[in-house]
Amino acid sequence: MGLRDDVAKVLISESEIQARVAELGREINAAYTDDDRLLLVCVLKGAFMFLADLVRHLDIRHEIDFMEISSYGSGTTSSGVVRILLDLAQSIEGRHVLIVEDIIDSGRTLDYITRNFYTRGPASVRVCTLLSKPSRREIAVPLDFVGFEIPDEFVLGYGLDFAEEYRNLPFIGVLKEEIYAE
Ligand code: IMP
Ligand code: MG
Repeated sequence: MGLRDDVAKVLISESEIQARVAELGREINAAYTDDDRLLLVCVLKGAFMFLADLVRHLDIRHEIDFMEISSYGSGTTSSGVVRILLDLAQSIEGRHVLIVEDIIDSGRTLDYITRNFYTRGPASVRVCTLLSKPSRREIAVPLDFVGFEIPDEFVLGYGLDFAEEYRNLPFIGVLKEEIYAE
């Protein structure tokens, strides 16, 4: 029995993800110029795989930095209490920043990050997320680049975890009921 046997259904296949990520890369190439000195901020851990694939489609000049956030909560819902576990290595003052996220659910984590960034004097802050669950939103957060809008289901794979596992799966899937219940 492997990790894939725990998956009840595949919501977005590997090839669908790869095609959409390539399109997002083209949208970002068109939205910025080399002179913008774009800084991509990957929100760990969930966005690591998305970032790695996305940057392979960028041909504008850019840099990469990482931030790790923990949103306290139990099981499959976030509480909205957010803490910075790892901060950026560099200043974003005067910089054009593109936040790269895995999924926007309630919007609380992203709201916290963008508010925090605006206190640092960036030139601009935009958001690229692979997934969005619009029906779950509690705080309105503007999203500039969205891979897929999905229904209110707990998903994993392609960087997203359940209890820190399943991040390696190359597709977005939903777990079998009995796994959540364990
Ligand atoms: P928000 O603060 O409620 O928008 O939640 C954002 C964070 O919760 C995401 O960055 C994920 O880490 C996590 N999250 C929300 N929904 C899911 C899901 O369906 N699968 C895995 N993680 C999720
Ligand atoms: Mg996340």
